[in-house]
Amino acid sequence: MERIKVAINGYGVIGKRVADAVAVQDDMELVGVCDIITDWRIKIAVQKGYPIFAFNGDYQKQMSETSVPVKGILNDLIKLADIIVDCTPKKIASQNIETYKASSLKFIVQGGEKHESTGHSFSAENNYESALGRASTRVVSCNTTSIIRTLTALKKAGLLKKARGTLLRRATDPWESHLTGIINTLVPEEEIPSHQGPDAKTVDPDLDVVTAAVKVPETLSHLHYWFIQLTREVTKDEVLEAFRNSSRIALINYADGLSANNTIKELMLSLNRPYGDMYEVALWQDMLKVEGDELFYAYVVDNQAIVIPETIDAIRALTKLEINAMDSIKKTNESLGIRKNFY
Ligand SMILES: NC(=O)c1ccc[n+]([C@@H]2O[C@H](COP(=O)([O-])OP(=O)(O)OC[C@H]3O[C@@H](n4cnc5c(N)ncnc54)[C@H](O)[C@@H]3O)[C@@H](O)[C@H]2O)c1
Repeated sequence: MERIKVAINGYGVIGKRVADAVAVQDDMELVGVCDIITDWRIKIAVQKGYPIFAFNGDYQKQMSETSVPVKGILNDLIKLADIIVDCTPKKIASQNIETYKASSLKFIVQGGEKHESTGHSFSAENNYESALGRASTRVVSCNTTSIIRTLTALKKAGLLKKARGTLLRRATDPWESHLTGIINTLVPEEEIPSHQGPDAKTVDPDLDVVTAAVKVPETLSHLHYWFIQLTREVTKDEVLEAFRNSSRIALINYADGLSANNTIKELMLSLNRPYGDMYEVALWQDMLKVEGDELFYAYVVDNQAIVIPETIDAIRALTKLEINAMDSIKKTNESLGIRKNFY
């Protein structure tokens, strides 16, 4: 089978995970990763055998001087690839877009970029089909991905009228918590709605969703609380069945010791997940409450991991490797060990 050649630009928190995920797909080949760094982070990519490229000649020189074997610059990598996943920091990717377009290279950007940068925002279970064969898409952010995933499950079951959520957001990523972050405070977003609700509508304009968000002093994951107006009175079992029908929601129990986000992280490490990553939304089924036509629930989102399977599916959609969303999702889930029950 001929494999799709995938390049990654930006080998940071998201880029290194996308690279590892691409490397285990039997229908994809990782042709290289591009960055500007010269320290341990890129040296691990070298150790993994990934071909290394530098953003430009200056960075190539710096990398070579620190004994990183560099194969070329971004423009060389572009020539080798069928598609590029841009995982550079917020707003940098938008500067690369003209380069990708000039080379007629398909590209994916991440949630730090605006919807307008590609004109399409992606979430596999919701709108895979509308991305088929497109030149580009944006995989929405970690919070937005979790919102779309959970609300799509309720919508598909015909249960969703409107959704209101409060998001507790991790302050910074663990690897850089010595450099940035907050301590001994809670920092609410300036405006209600926070940006995640409107962002969810870039994938599914029909959603009636409002969010508020607050930054909290920890680094492990986000925690969401949701209040849903249902279309009718339902039983708790009907709601759980709707969530069970989603391919990337795992139901967990508070009563089983999973009573905080650190315990969930420890569970992922115990499962030998790479980086302790949780690709699923972990939703507390024993905490979930239905009162007539109102639904209340909470879940945990691993911000560093949730967009990785979505990105793999987005590659298949743009390149038409798989025409059917569920076929791609199944393939991705099997390759990454994604499941509905952790044990
Ligand atoms: N961190 C998260 O939890 C998270 C979750 C979902 C989506 N995202 C989105 O993913 C994207 C990447 O975020 P991240 O957290 O991985 O960032 P990051 O800072 O961890 O990684 C970015 C990488 O890009 C490299 N880089 C910077 N300038 C470059 C250039 N000109 N050319 C090539 N490489 C360059 C950096 O050296 C770094 O290795 C952003 O759009 C972000 O909003 C992040």
